[in-house]
Amino acid sequence: MTKITVRELRKEDIPELSRIEAESFSMPWSAAAFGELLTRPYCTYLTALADGRVAGCCGYTDSLHEANIDNVVVASEYRNRGIAQIMLAKLLERGAASGVESYVLEVRVSNLPAIHIYEKLGFRSVGIRPRFYEKPVEDARIMKRER
Ligand SMILES: CC(C)(COP(=O)(O)OP(=O)(O)OC[C@H]1O[C@@H](n2cnc3c(N)ncnc32)[C@H](O)[C@@H]1OP(=O)(O)O)[C@@H](O)C(=O)NCCC(=O)NCCS
Repeated sequence: MTKITVRELRKEDIPELSRIEAESFSMPWSAAAFGELLTRPYCTYLTALADGRVAGCCGYTDSLHEANIDNVVVASEYRNRGIAQIMLAKLLERGAASGVESYVLEVRVSNLPAIHIYEKLGFRSVGIRPRFYEKPVEDARIMKRER
């Protein structure tokens, strides 16, 4: 059985995370964007490992105790094994320990697996941001969770 572990995002994870981003998003984060996260104390990012191999990441930017979850991704070959849910549960634990009072995120309205996970973790829809995404243009569902 695959062993899943979650720890802080490290510099050495970035090449593989950039590859996972590129296969997962039409507007992926670059390696430089990941590198900048590591210099920002108000960003909390976690990497999930499957049998020690980088399988995905998630994280938030904290602004006055409201955490914006700005990236959640799992490599296609590791999807549907619960990794995103494990990783996000750890992220919420981390937020609780650092005094985060609420979480907010945007998700494409068509992204049913992601919406399913967020609802399971206690996020609720609070609105729609029309035409928020590009490539392709699509509305965002805004979801929130109180601590
Ligand atoms: C969204 C994403 C992070 C989920 O990662 P994952 O590790 O596969 O997620 P999990 O295995 O923890 O959970 C997947 C859940 O979605 C469900 N699911 C799968 N396909 C689904 C669909 N079409 N509709 C609804 N639910 C679906 C699964 O049944 C599972 O739920 P369950 O545990 O209750 O059975 C991953 O698909 C991904 O990286 N996608 C591309 C990037 C992306 O969209 N990121 C989110 C941006 S907001």
